[in-house]
Amino acid sequence: MTPFFETNPVDRLDALASEPVATCTAGMLANLAAASGLRNWHLKGRELIPVVQGGMGVGLPLDLPEIAREHPDVALIPILSGARGVQLVVRKWEKKGRLPDAIVIEHPRLAGGHLGAAKIADLNDPRFDFDVVLPQVLAFFKSAGIEGRIPLIVAGGIGSLEDIRRLQGLGASAVQLGTAFAVTTECDAHIAFKRVLADAKPEDIVEFTSTAGLPARAVRTPWLDKYLRLEPRLKDKAHKKEHCTMRFDCLAHCGLRDGTATWGQFCIDKTLGHALEGHTDQGLFFRGAGRLPFGREIRPVGELMRWLLGGIRPTVPTVR
Ligand SMILES: Cc1cc2nc3c(=O)[nH]c(=O)nc-3n(C[C@H](O)[C@H](O)[C@H](O)COP(=O)(O)O)c2cc1C
Ligand code: SF4
Repeated sequence: MTPFFETNPVDRLDALASEPVATCTAGMLANLAAASGLRNWHLKGRELIPVVQGGMGVGLPLDLPEIAREHPDVALIPILSGARGVQLVVRKWEKKGRLPDAIVIEHPRLAGGHLGAAKIADLNDPRFDFDVVLPQVLAFFKSAGIEGRIPLIVAGGIGSLEDIRRLQGLGASAVQLGTAFAVTTECDAHIAFKRVLADAKPEDIVEFTSTAGLPARAVRTPWLDKYLRLEPRLKDKAHKKEHCTMRFDCLAHCGLRDGTATWGQFCIDKTLGHALEGHTDQGLFFRGAGRLPFGREIRPVGELMRWLLGGIRPTVPTVR
């Protein structure tokens, strides 16, 4: 049988779509989204469409309504970080006769994976703070006459009922967690993948520029450490290739394939695949910057949900 990660990304997503909704959307599905190269794809028959994650400098998902025109039942949920991006997307989509079904507001200082800021230096910009973005976005919705029509889903560093209540107080309708679900028992990534994420200390979590030209956050594993040390030399030697050396050819714009020296010089599809399969020496392990609710422990989704929704800590010891 062909290993899962060697199949075409779109086939993988379709395969997943034929299964019951996964409990582990972040560990598996989100990695697949990244491995699909930030190109737009949809899951047949599902109410979910992961969308291009775009910071101000790299382009916003402005053309998503056209791309999804033939799929009116699919919810379009752009992932944005700042109020200006929200305004631009909503204004542009309105002209095309569509509003986002919800908007994920992801904090680039806290979230895992690709981040919605133009450059690494912008990740800590206070304009992305939830208590700045949410009131600005809600005020814009009101002035645009669309108050209450677009739920806001907040993401990045959320790990407790207290966090959720605070964000609800700011006007969030929902929250999205990535890393905490990626380290649950049910997540079907390799156990070594979960261990890397759960064991990472704050000083092990780093930001760099990915092959897609976006800032990204991951664990400084031996592979990433080596890559970051070699990065200046790799960038010096960056050159346009005739074609992608992998058969996926996943990214519309790829720093490695296109020889864009300011972008990452590694194959993100290959390295994310290695991570999913637990190859700590070759994989890229995306992770958020926040503390995990159960520290280094890998626990079932049910316990995580009880903690998040009821503030109830698990009492049964777990195997580390
Ligand atoms: C392993 C991993 C892979 C991710 N891949 C993607 C992705 O492909 N596309 C995306 O929009 N977000 C991706 N994310 C971001 C999550 O969907 C989520 O918004 C973010 O991690 C929230 O922050 P948290 O991890 O602190 O909860 C990923 C996160 C993790 C941890
Ligand atoms: S080298 Fe090819 S498969 Fe790898 S990230 Fe670039 S486009 Fe995708």
